[in-house]
Amino acid sequence: MKLPSILNLMTDDLAIDLGTSRTRVFARGRGIVVNEPSLLAYDTPSQEVVAVGLEALELEGRASGDIQIISPLKDGVVADPTFAGKLLEHYLRKARDGRSTLSRKVLVSIPADASTVEHRALYYAAKEAGVGNVHFVNKGIVAILGSGVDPDDQRATLVVDIGAGTTTIAAMVHNHLIFTRTLRVGGNDMDLALIDMIKQNHNILVGPRTAERVKIELGCAVPLDQENTTMVKGRSTIGGNPEMAVVNSIEIHEAIEPLVSRIVNAVQDALEALPPEASGDIYDRGMMLAGGASLLAGLDERLSKETELSVQLTESPQRAVIRGLGLLFENPLALRRAIIKSES
Ligand SMILES: Nc1ncnc2c1ncn2[C@@H]1O[C@H](COP(=O)(O)OP(=O)(O)OP(=O)(O)O)[C@@H](O)[C@H]1O
Ligand SMILES: [Mg+2]
Repeated sequence: MKLPSILNLMTDDLAIDLGTSRTRVFARGRGIVVNEPSLLAYDTPSQEVVAVGLEALELEGRASGDIQIISPLKDGVVADPTFAGKLLEHYLRKARDGRSTLSRKVLVSIPADASTVEHRALYYAAKEAGVGNVHFVNKGIVAILGSGVDPDDQRATLVVDIGAGTTTIAAMVHNHLIFTRTLRVGGNDMDLALIDMIKQNHNILVGPRTAERVKIELGCAVPLDQENTTMVKGRSTIGGNPEMAVVNSIEIHEAIEPLVSRIVNAVQDALEALPPEASGDIYDRGMMLAGGASLLAGLDERLSKETELSVQLTESPQRAVIRGLGLLFENPLALRRAIIKSES
């Protein structure tokens, strides 16, 4: 066995999936070491961060006055570079856990079609967090690898990663990405649609956590035979008092349907854009789903019905991207192909 060099003890190879809802960090040799909400709470007058991740989540919807709870990420990219930097700094410190002070190689996943401004924002956040060299990695490729696909596979594979802010559709054959597209639609948009619907139909303003709970409990991508209901509590938009209402699965389905349709249409567009041989492979193998929002009830069934392909959910779909990032450390060729840009 080779003894670890002093450099290896002092430095760490880290990979970061800065997701709209959760930040995940993979440390080479140790696996996923951080998996927490991409949220922070700060004091507005001083701009000082008072809580990060789960602690910030606890404060959400309850803190008032000077404390603001924000997600510095929007639609899969950095919306607030300074606070994203603070979030990253906190999580990188946690990931290093006193083992190392430096990171030799830091991989960060980013949508393939992210704009230059979006690249700069992420780079700035990484610099704020004290990262030296940043390698931007194609999110589509890592979603595919993290779904268990062998990068050397000679036949095409299609993966759809439906997260909180983005849907990434990517197809790969023999280590080459043959298609990738990012739709800025995800589970958060469904939550927002539910907040609107509850306001319109019941005159109650609910928070994002309530909307997410409603979606997970009763949201469905196909019409349900049986009507189910759930209770929600929030603030009356009429009197301003705390109020409750009963919402049913039909209105929930109708509220999220336009977003489900956009995802389905984007997958259909991707299938039409594939080269013929790759189409044939996908016809035989079907597609794989990753990302937390792929767990929406009936989404696999809906996609399968509309595309006439088999649809399979990857194991713990929310972790596909971070798993794929971790696998790149062991596969130099795939890593070279996945890197979009390196900056130091
Ligand atoms: N059982 C479920 N049913 C429906 N949606 C779910 C379920 N479980 C999780 N989700 C949704 O999945 C989303 C989170 O997925 P994920 O962790 O993959 O996103 P992310 O990586 O943070 O976002 P992105 O990749 O878009 O930046 C949230 O919108 C969450 O509500
Ligand atoms: Mg994601």
